[in-house]
Amino acid sequence: MDANIVLIPGDGIGPEIIAEAQRVLEVVATRFGHSFNFTSCPLGGNAIDNFGTALPDETLEACGNSDSILLGAVGGPKWDDPNAKVRPEQGLLKLRKELALFANLRPLKMYSALAEASPLKPEYIEGVDILFFRELTGGIYFGESKRETLDDGSERAVNEMVYTTSEIERIVRLAGEAARKRRGKLTSVDKANVLEVSRLWRSVAQSVVDADFSDLNYDVVLVDAMAMHLINRAKDFDVVVTGNMFGDILTDEGSMLPGSLGLLPSASLGESGPGLYEPIHGSAPDIAGQGIANPLATVLASAMMLDHSLGLTDEARALEEVVENVLNAGHRTADIADGGETLSTVEMGQKVIDGLNG
Ligand code: IPM
Ligand code: MG
Repeated sequence: MDANIVLIPGDGIGPEIIAEAQRVLEVVATRFGHSFNFTSCPLGGNAIDNFGTALPDETLEACGNSDSILLGAVGGPKWDDPNAKVRPEQGLLKLRKELALFANLRPLKMYSALAEASPLKPEYIEGVDILFFRELTGGIYFGESKRETLDDGSERAVNEMVYTTSEIERIVRLAGEAARKRRGKLTSVDKANVLEVSRLWRSVAQSVVDADFSDLNYDVVLVDAMAMHLINRAKDFDVVVTGNMFGDILTDEGSMLPGSLGLLPSASLGESGPGLYEPIHGSAPDIAGQGIANPLATVLASAMMLDHSLGLTDEARALEEVVENVLNAGHRTADIADGGETLSTVEMGQKVIDGLNG
């Protein structure tokens, strides 16, 4: 197949890990007889520096016309001033919204070779395999916001949290379909004991399940309880669906179970059109430019891209298997090092390439 892939290296370690993912994808293309055409676009802090905006029009246009988008990471201390007019994160949020990427899939899978890297005891992480569906274009992230000065000179700020029936229905439906292909368990997470938005979420989710997913083992969990369950009984969960901010927080918490953020990919999908694939980790400015970042989360995000946007399921599975083999063989970047020799970003990318060619 021929595919047009937009690469967004972004900030910090972004360019280093995207370079490795590109090398890996080129080998996938050669080995499986495809042709991938790559275009690199600015987004985030680098775009602010060079174009005065976090999401240049050209980037949005190239993304909209592509088959899929692979993003490194955006942001960094240089652009962190809370009072700044433009912030790198705005670029990412706008890209998600403009491309209507409402479903953020974040798989949480344990690698037995890395059990040591987890801060939890092995019995808590063994067998954990969760797929989060985080709603990505609604909720408190995109509600009206305002900030005003009161008569006494103090300030007041407001962020509205909004969900509509259709926004809830479509994400629950996707999550339900995924659960059906996995272990048949779906959990919806909300805060219905306090928030009106969550009460709507809960009743809409229940209607969708009653109408179309009565074959699933369905339950609801409050978000604060979910934060606990992720630590003490994560293996009980299969597919978890939740709103934008709860999903943001729970997936960062969950990412600690395997012990390193450096291994977790994510996919942001819409009803149609290109998907956006990225590692869950950020731009890691503390190690940027040193060539030591772990490229595997981005490589795994590339595998999700092959699967979901390009329909190349065999290629995706092959790539995931190679990553697992590389870890089983004991190869480690610094973030998951176990005292032995550590590989650079490029060396780790090369291990994956060798595995694909081997
Ligand atoms: C994420 C990130 C983003 C978010 C930031 C960078 C805007 O934390 O993708 O989880 O909050 O959605
Ligand atoms: Mg986050």
